[in-house]
Amino acid sequence: MNDTIIGRPMARVDGALKVTGQAPYAYEYPAQGVVYGVMATATIARGRVASIDTGPAFAVPGVLHVMTSRNAPSQHRFGPGDATGLLAGNRFLFARPVLADDQVRYHGEPVALVLAETFEAARDGAARLDVRYAIEPARCALEPELARAYRPDAINAGMETDTTIGDFEADFARAAVTVDARYRTPYQKHNAMEPHAALAEWREGGLVVHTSTQSVANTRKALAKTLGIDVARVRLHSPYVGGGFGAKLGMQPEVVFAALAAGLLRRPVKVAQTRQQMFATVGHRPEMIQRVRLAADATGRLSGIAHEAWMQTSPHEEFAEQAAAFTRSLYAAPNRITRHRLVPLDLPPGDTMRAPGEAPGMMALEAAMDELASTLGMDPIALRIRNEPAVDPERRVPFSSRPLVRCMNEGARRFGWDQRPTRPASRREGDRLIGYGMAAAIRPNYMRNGAASVAMDAAGRVTARLDMTDIGTGTYTILTQIAADALGVPPASVEVRLGDSAFPENWGSGGSFGATSSGVALHGACVALRAKLAAAAGRPELRIVDGQVRAGGAAEPIATFMARVAPAGLSAEYAHTGSGKSYTEYSQHSFGAHFAEVAVDALTGEVRLRRMLGVFDAGRVFNPRLARSQLIGGMIWGVGAALLEEGVVDPRFGHFVNAGLGEYHVAVAADVPEVDAVILETPDDKANVFGAKGVGELGTCGSAAAVANAVFNACGIRVRDYPITVEKVLAGLPDARIRAG
Ligand code: MOS
Repeated sequence: MNDTIIGRPMARVDGALKVTGQAPYAYEYPAQGVVYGVMATATIARGRVASIDTGPAFAVPGVLHVMTSRNAPSQHRFGPGDATGLLAGNRFLFARPVLADDQVRYHGEPVALVLAETFEAARDGAARLDVRYAIEPARCALEPELARAYRPDAINAGMETDTTIGDFEADFARAAVTVDARYRTPYQKHNAMEPHAALAEWREGGLVVHTSTQSVANTRKALAKTLGIDVARVRLHSPYVGGGFGAKLGMQPEVVFAALAAGLLRRPVKVAQTRQQMFATVGHRPEMIQRVRLAADATGRLSGIAHEAWMQTSPHEEFAEQAAAFTRSLYAAPNRITRHRLVPLDLPPGDTMRAPGEAPGMMALEAAMDELASTLGMDPIALRIRNEPAVDPERRVPFSSRPLVRCMNEGARRFGWDQRPTRPASRREGDRLIGYGMAAAIRPNYMRNGAASVAMDAAGRVTARLDMTDIGTGTYTILTQIAADALGVPPASVEVRLGDSAFPENWGSGGSFGATSSGVALHGACVALRAKLAAAAGRPELRIVDGQVRAGGAAEPIATFMARVAPAGLSAEYAHTGSGKSYTEYSQHSFGAHFAEVAVDALTGEVRLRRMLGVFDAGRVFNPRLARSQLIGGMIWGVGAALLEEGVVDPRFGHFVNAGLGEYHVAVAADVPEVDAVILETPDDKANVFGAKGVGELGTCGSAAAVANAVFNACGIRVRDYPITVEKVLAGLPDARIRAG
């Protein structure tokens, strides 16, 4: 491969389009005679809609129709179903009818759609609907309901619910040193900059939809199944996506609403969710209680690890975040337990949110490791190195590569870890207590199905087509690099076209598998195209370098070659099904280490991040500029998770009180004065043809724990109830102040 193209920090090929407003998003497509739809949502947690008086809505000039459960077109019942013969197991392919009955399952569930000539009229109409409810008792708080926890058959991504190895309980009872800690992580919300939106129009018997999705194939199939129509009749476009973070892996209600309304009114219909609505209707990371128990000898060698999680689910749609799954692969110990339990609450269903599993799970385990290091009086990095496994501790298969120690050591050197105060609350600058913290990062690497077509025209210009999405991560750019590299042409002569269901099918952008899954597909198509070029020329040894075709000692520009050999152009396709055996025969992960320095105000309890460094190894990197941007973004998510983020439920009414980005706090620029990500590159030949692994979620695996551990190091207060707010620090401060003296 040509390393001058793959691995180059190329700027985004779609950057100029985006910053000049020329990259159209779903809601922005023009449509002649468009109708606007606005959802009205339930204001109770559980019960049913007794009546809806639509009169006040119709009094608003321009209101055309009000869709409720009484008059909504019939749809496939919720769930996998079999009407269209599509894969049943993937919950992103479930039929998701809207207004299917009069039941209210959660506060914020859509109960009506108001359609009008203008957005303003639709919104006004929705606000004026007189909805009456028959209220039933609801359970909306996790802690009081823990006794109702049940064991799900499987957890997210089809993983095992529980694992047990050895005899943890006996080992824990006799261990020299133990940690037994309970952590709480709150509801967290993915709330993409581009709200969920759809434009639907029936044209010549087919449905054309513009929407914002991470997976064109998922959303298209789920929509076809919901409507009960052949998937071939749905054309879906999603060329630009303003963030997804897991909320756009599957179809959300605005897509179904737009499609149904377009059929009813025989006009194009646009429906966008408001940001406030998205706090209920697009899923969330569930609130969790985690108990971590560690057993070690006096030298810090672990003999037992138990990681148990209890979390919210919906009685109507089960979601189990794999919070303890990574623990199965992280540290060695002969006695082990991982467990996941679900508590049904009358709240919206939880869903995949960036680094599902590791993001909340490492906030517990990596904090517990810090607690153990502190109990032992041991350096946290030394503790982790002592417990490095030779093979995957539960699966007993080799790691494809295991650069964790390298990441920790390199990070320690660059961060100045040797300057860390060894005693908590021992470094003071004026009123501020200074502390350092670290945590490991691990995220499984796997590939999903991918397919691509690539064509070269008579002028040597290349067009690649995939139904893949670019959710802001830089997919257009890396695929341009991959095609240019494989075909030996300059990136400027490659055009990558994405986000159209007419193009070859990819799983999409998610699980950090997007870049490699679609990249392997495109690389395969380019290799096939190269073979076709060689065959057309009758020169098996043919190579293309810098846009010159070389064969038998001669060279000619690619345009001359194509005009002579294949004036009609040539194209090729390639498809693959994902990781396959390399994933089952090896334990395959990306790794990293986070380092944070915080200052805790000894008088007010305010925690400020001072600087943060992550050192990561995700194998070969396609584009270091884009990878670094993903990693830094993930680290900043961790800062928010540690210090700020919390979806607060009012248990009386079951709604998220702080539904909006003014009230749901995320880390902003002022919260992250200095943050850097360094990328090591240990190519992983077990991963794929590139030796590349996923980076999208790695940055947020462990980052929150590094911040929490720094807070403890700064002030000696261990807050196990996230986020670490002023009130919680303040509650423990007097002791720390005396110790800091
Ligand atoms: Mo990610 S939660 O798989 O979009």
